[in-house]
Amino acid sequence: MVTFDFNKYVNLRFEKLNLDALTNLMIKDNKMMGWFDLDSRYIEDIKETANQIKEKSDVFLIIGAGGSINCSKAIIDAFKPHFKKKKPEIIYLGDSLSSDYLLELLEYIKNKKVFVNIISKSANTLEVNLATDIIMYLLNKKYSKEELKDRVIITTENVDNPLTRLAREYGFKRYVIEKEIGGRYSMFTPASLLPMAVAGINLELFFLGAKEAKDNLSDCYKYVLYRYNMYLSNLVVEAYNVYDPKLKSFLEWVKQLFAESQGKNGRGILPIANINTGDLHSMGQFMQDGLNIVFETNIYNHSIKDTKITKYNKTMDDINYIALKSVAKSHFENNKNGIIIEMDKIDELNLGYLAYFFMLSAALGGYLLNVNYYDQEGVNNYKKIMLEELSK
Ligand code: PA5
Repeated sequence: MVTFDFNKYVNLRFEKLNLDALTNLMIKDNKMMGWFDLDSRYIEDIKETANQIKEKSDVFLIIGAGGSINCSKAIIDAFKPHFKKKKPEIIYLGDSLSSDYLLELLEYIKNKKVFVNIISKSANTLEVNLATDIIMYLLNKKYSKEELKDRVIITTENVDNPLTRLAREYGFKRYVIEKEIGGRYSMFTPASLLPMAVAGINLELFFLGAKEAKDNLSDCYKYVLYRYNMYLSNLVVEAYNVYDPKLKSFLEWVKQLFAESQGKNGRGILPIANINTGDLHSMGQFMQDGLNIVFETNIYNHSIKDTKITKYNKTMDDINYIALKSVAKSHFENNKNGIIIEMDKIDELNLGYLAYFFMLSAALGGYLLNVNYYDQEGVNNYKKIMLEELSK
């Protein structure tokens, strides 16, 4: 169960809550809301492919960048045990140009059974293309073309591009990212669902959670208005705070979702992430007492495994929860607003709910700001300069 507290630590009353009309207009208005209706038609096929991968591989390599991997990573890392290694090991590649990372990875997977999922909607992302070339070179040395056939899965748009051609050449299985769904909104597409299924995440429950969020938009509307009102009051930094390191990658995705969807035309709220209580001992100073430009969105998950701390006659989860409330109270006493989003535990229903909740909030909030929430023209300029440099 996910619950919301929009009141206790917020100095703002929500009167006009109904954003239904705006949501309908947004859906009618543009073509990039392909995720809105939660298309679940790929689930069965994905589960079958995932079973093959789980059975036959030591390492499942996922090549991709930005939204194409941040979505699955957000969910997979939330479920991942801290210390126990799961098989197959899921390793991401293609979101950096670090030579050290690449060479260490090649050494690490040299004698392991490897399956690969190459994910790129555009098939035009430099890091992803480089990683693909290198991994294909390695795989071609290691396996015959016939052996390779089942080991690589391509996830891309259904157009003629270098990845569809690669799939055709080798007979690789191919999943489609619909034209109307952008990378950071691909949480419910094969781009995320195949990695999640390999990690053992129950996709039906994940969709069920999202469906619940879709059927109950009032909290999403409150959140959109909360952010919008903060922005109008010149509070332009949103600190997302979690109290469990397992949600670190989830925040990375949320950060991307809002920064890339709304930070344009000189507008937008800058999202930052704090992993508390660790960051209370660094960022906490600014949150409490720095320049008054920040508001907060706290996301708390209760622990599944808990332990009693006799000294305080409380459980560890009680103490962590008291930390959250104490920090929110302390910041509020210094005029910092903060809402609390609470999950009774990390599970598919709750994360599916929140994934949908944040996607719709990012889109709707962008629509309210009158920016194009599904493009990212701002990241094209550096790419142009870089390509010029590379061709010198
Ligand atoms: O959210 C987005 O659209 C981006 O972050 C993309 O996912 C990222 O740039 C990777 O694009 P592609 O999947 O085309 O390689």
